[in-house]
Amino acid sequence: LRMILVGPPGAGKGTQAPQIRDKFFVCHLATGDMLRDEVAKQTQLGKEAKKIMDSGGLVSDDIMVGMIKNQLSTNKECKNGFILDGFPRTVPQAEKLDQMLTERKEKVDNVVELKIDDSLLISRITGRLIHLPSGRTYHREFNPPKKPMTDDVSGEPLTQRSDDNVETLRKRLASYHNTTGPVLDYYKKQGIWQQIDAAQSPKVVWDSLQKVLAK
Ligand code: AP5
Ligand code: ZN
Repeated sequence: LRMILVGPPGAGKGTQAPQIRDKFFVCHLATGDMLRDEVAKQTQLGKEAKKIMDSGGLVSDDIMVGMIKNQLSTNKECKNGFILDGFPRTVPQAEKLDQMLTERKEKVDNVVELKIDDSLLISRITGRLIHLPSGRTYHREFNPPKKPMTDDVSGEPLTQRSDDNVETLRKRLASYHNTTGPVLDYYKKQGIWQQIDAAQSPKVVWDSLQKVLAK
């Protein structure tokens, strides 16, 4: 399986993608998680990326394409395929991905859009808690951890993302509609785009995802 999960901030990409990874034995490449990892390690890239992420902007196409290229060629978990979460976010990123895959005699099989109204995303984003090292995601109300502020698997602390506030969310949403919207048109033209309703419960969204992937 080689698929792309697209959706606005809070649509549920990071919630659903690990289940696809586990079902299809593919790698889950989340560019936001990779960037947050660089921020945590305080690398030069991390320092620059943090400013951009906190302002709700986009990190440069060259950097993002480089990160994906590196993962696809070195990450052994990607040999059966991949699920991309947060990439491609611009048409040039989509074009570069196609080029990269053509060189490997591969192609994207499925693009699934998690469709949800902006108004539902504020509560999802402001209540989100994450386990930074694994990318595992919780929600104070909708998916609380067993112990408050503690990751169920590792017992380590949960944190809130610094871009998860209403002001930055507005900018991330604008960027999604203006810049990532055309990426959906790019895949519609290729005939590999499908859409599911992401406003339902995580379980119902997971059922819909499995259905569209079985088509
Ligand atoms: P990224 O980390 O990709 O953020 P995003 O796209 O804004 O998406 P989110 O992670 O906010 O949402 P999600 O869909 O994963 O939601 P989740 O499942 O966690 O990118 C961050 C930044 O990095 C970007 O702004 C940009 O600056 C930079 N960047 C990354 N990739 C880039 C690229 N390719 N090019 C340039 N820059 C890039 O769910 C959200 C919450 O809701 C959780 O608390 C969850 O528990 C809850 N929830 C999930 N599903 C449901 C449900 N069905 N019902 C109720 N609650 C739910
Ligand atoms: Zn995410």
